[in-house]
Amino acid sequence: MNAVPENSRAPGHEADTVLAAEQLTKHYAVRRGMFGHGTIKALNGVSFSLTRGKTLAVVGESGCGKSTLARQLTMIEPPTSGRLLVEGEDVAGADRAKIAQLRRRVQMVFQNPFASLNPRKTVEQTLAEPLQINSQLSATERAGRVAHMMRTVGLRPEHAKRYPHMFSGGQRQRIAIARAMILEPRIVVADEPVSALDVSIQAQILNLFMDLQEQFKTSYVFISHNLAVVEHIADDVMVMYFGGVAELGDKKTVFAKPRHPYTRSLMSATPAIFESDRRAQIKLQGEMPSPLDPPSGCPFHQRCPYAIERCRMEEPKLREVDARLVSCHRAEEVGDVDA
Ligand SMILES: Nc1ncnc2c1ncn2[C@@H]1O[C@H](COP(=O)(O)OP(=O)(O)O)[C@@H](O)[C@H]1O
Ligand code: SF4
Ligand SMILES: [Mg+2]
Repeated sequence: MNAVPENSRAPGHEADTVLAAEQLTKHYAVRRGMFGHGTIKALNGVSFSLTRGKTLAVVGESGCGKSTLARQLTMIEPPTSGRLLVEGEDVAGADRAKIAQLRRRVQMVFQNPFASLNPRKTVEQTLAEPLQINSQLSATERAGRVAHMMRTVGLRPEHAKRYPHMFSGGQRQRIAIARAMILEPRIVVADEPVSALDVSIQAQILNLFMDLQEQFKTSYVFISHNLAVVEHIADDVMVMYFGGVAELGDKKTVFAKPRHPYTRSLMSATPAIFESDRRAQIKLQGEMPSPLDPPSGCPFHQRCPYAIERCRMEEPKLREVDARLVSCHRAEEVGDVDA
């Protein structure tokens, strides 16, 4: 279970760890009403490590902090606090040249391929641009690499002169994936990369991600609000709730017997895969609390069928239970006894 940082060693120091987050935190200052100011704690001390060539799936409902995490991991935004290590190198304290180098190793694929591609650039221009900036290749060599990459992601090289609007949603996402992969990054952070696509196309794009991983040994942080989407692609799973980690561990371990009530409720909401698991029948009620008005104790207590008095008072710490990390006071009982 490599996603779980060992207590005795800081994550990121193991040889096969390509990306490690240590207590990554992001707060946003926002206006509240006409006079006041508030702080949105979008990310509250998230730690994990990503193993070379593997996929860590990040799941959780809208607003739990997934995209904020993606922006920290891809260095689009600096964290408020916490550490980020790319192949063991600390991003904090790195100079600009170093950060530029680290950024090249971590590429991002966004949810919406309609918005993430420049409509005025042809596929060839879009894909050649990173090569132009970051390599010494000649124009002919670049065109060759572009054609090869188009073929690799299932596009026809003879369409290189076309513009994004001439492609379907699935094909556009293939272009975005090709752009992310063309410099052969060590890590790709994909933020809901199939959520905007027709269900019939989703499986094709997921298969493409898996083929590319095998070919290039890329490590993925694969974000989705849908457990059904990550079920196939994930090696490890991190379930997020209200800016924090609810449960983190090996996919098989977590899915076989989730130890956080929130993980169980997400599984209940995905009957297509988890139908046979009667233990997972928890209906999710209510909504996530407002990040401007965080509840006391466990952030899940108002919605949790397992909640006890202690949950309103004391915030659970992330701890190891049954071979994964869980932040729940009753983790030992969850999955074994009814709520
Ligand atoms: N730039 C920002 N300024 C203020 N609040 C933000 C900003 N970005 C995200 N948030 C807030 O942080 C929380 C997490 O958002 P986000 O990371 O987009 O969640 P997700 O991707 O899981 O839906 C939400 O409450 C969101 O409104
Ligand atoms: S700590 Fe309490 S409220 Fe939170 S998930 Fe566990 S049982 Fe539910
Ligand atoms: Mg998001």
